[in-house]
Amino acid sequence: LLAKLQSLEMREWAAVPTVLARPSTGSGRTAAGSEAADSTNEPQPVRAELVEARMVRSPQDGTTVGQALDATPADVDLAFARAVAAQPGWDALGGHARADLLDRAADLFEANTAEFISLCQCEAGKTLLDGVLEVREAVDFLRYYACEARTLFGAPKPLPGPTGEENLLRMHGRGVFATISPWNFPLAIFTGMAGAAIAAGNTVLAKPAEQTPLIAALAVRLCHEAGIPDDVLQLVPGDGKVGALLTSDARLSGVAFTGSTDTAHAINRTLAARSGPIATLIAETGGQNALIVDSSALPEQVTRDVIASAFQSAGQRCSALRVLYLQEDIADPVLEMIRGAFEALVIGDPTRLATDVGPVIDAEAKAGLDQHVAAMQQAGRTVFRRELPGEVQAGSFVAPAIVEIGSIADLAKENFGPVLHVVRWKADNLAGVIEDINATGFGLTLGLHSRIDAVRRFVEARARVGNLYVNRNQIGAVVGSQPFGGEGLSGTGPKAGGPHYLARFAIERVTTVDT
Ligand code: NAD
Ligand code: ALA
Repeated sequence: LLAKLQSLEMREWAAVPTVLARPSTGSGRTAAGSEAADSTNEPQPVRAELVEARMVRSPQDGTTVGQALDATPADVDLAFARAVAAQPGWDALGGHARADLLDRAADLFEANTAEFISLCQCEAGKTLLDGVLEVREAVDFLRYYACEARTLFGAPKPLPGPTGEENLLRMHGRGVFATISPWNFPLAIFTGMAGAAIAAGNTVLAKPAEQTPLIAALAVRLCHEAGIPDDVLQLVPGDGKVGALLTSDARLSGVAFTGSTDTAHAINRTLAARSGPIATLIAETGGQNALIVDSSALPEQVTRDVIASAFQSAGQRCSALRVLYLQEDIADPVLEMIRGAFEALVIGDPTRLATDVGPVIDAEAKAGLDQHVAAMQQAGRTVFRRELPGEVQAGSFVAPAIVEIGSIADLAKENFGPVLHVVRWKADNLAGVIEDINATGFGLTLGLHSRIDAVRRFVEARARVGNLYVNRNQIGAVVGSQPFGGEGLSGTGPKAGGPHYLARFAIERVTTVDT
């Protein structure tokens, strides 16, 4: 894998032809699986001369990685027409046949691991470790949803009834789904949401984040190569305006969204204002995630898990630790140990094996995080901050920081980067700490480091969060083992990678026969 990656590093992604940036226009496989006249499967730019290409730039140094063309209103209209026409055939194919295609796509993703990792590094600034995990998670999503589809959309389920009556429950796709994804998991979340919608018998208009269309384009191409028809999965690149076009269309049956809480609210309002079927909204959003450490915790474990939770992926995980609650009796020695590990973090080029912290996604994200730390400094907070190495000046790197604050309530919003906040708490105030965390309204991840069972039960009973992690780090939920998602301002559920997810993309139909 490393040798392959090194050879890809030599290659300029910029030299790869302009991304298949818009839905293709009628060529390629049809929903029925037959080949149309022009079956090159190549992107067919429409009126490309009228649309300015979006330059995709590396967060590491600002160089051009590739280009993408945003979908126009006409493209979105055409994509809907094709998706609507293809949906009944795709639904009728049944769970088993759809699952086989998803499994084939997973095989192709695995075969293209190095290409994906290289793109994760160039386009999203991911480290090698994060790139590997990203591909693994995408493959896991495809295989898990394939497996679930065989059960849920396989044979109809017989239901009880009096003698002489037969009742059968069948699950069907809802129609056309828009899947709208964030840049921070440009492959895993993009693939997970689209894969689930497809597995359930929907056709999908998949909009990647505007920062990361290249990875999404490769993922869609491989899904098509696996045999998922072009009209069943269509790439619809663009920014929030394109997302708004998708969500306001009356032909839409549902939206699977992952991104910020503000955008989820905006989509909810758009869906409410439009005509057409009452659309389903599955929204996975931000967090203000805390970790509570009491005096029974093991400092070395706490240090390891704090560093991973707060600084891996440059803090750009929705699950990442934002506020560390240290019991005041142990706060000083534990904080000293954490600072030691913090000082040892290697910041820099994400393509280097040794790098722990790469860049944040773009200059705008960097400016927001730097402003936040500066405001904390001006407010007289104790701030430990790393110096950035000279070599990274051209990119959107943020110097990691640890900031002492009074309470989680001091933070106005989610700070999506390598900034850890620390609060000291008194031993008799555990209930107060949990109340403060719940009062933020977010409910994504919560960590707890304690060797006392009664403390775990106390926290479990009171914390309103989707994922509670005890005596370990709080990132990297594993598909099928830790279904992931939050509540309140953090999302609607059901959890991605869990047993109830696919059902939300489906409708139920019951046939009753008097025999
Ligand atoms: P974002 O909300 O800015 O953008 C997400 C997607 O929504 C993008 O594709 C964007 O183009 C699109 N969009 C923007 N405005 C829109 C509109 N009005 N209508 C339709 N679509 C619109 O989020 P981001 O900056 O890309 O991602 C970071 C955020 O995502 C963080 O808040 C993070 O916590 C959250 N996130 C949550 C999870 C989770 O599982 N809970 C996972 C990853 C990221
Ligand atoms: N599923 C991702 C994690 O758990 C967001 O870190």
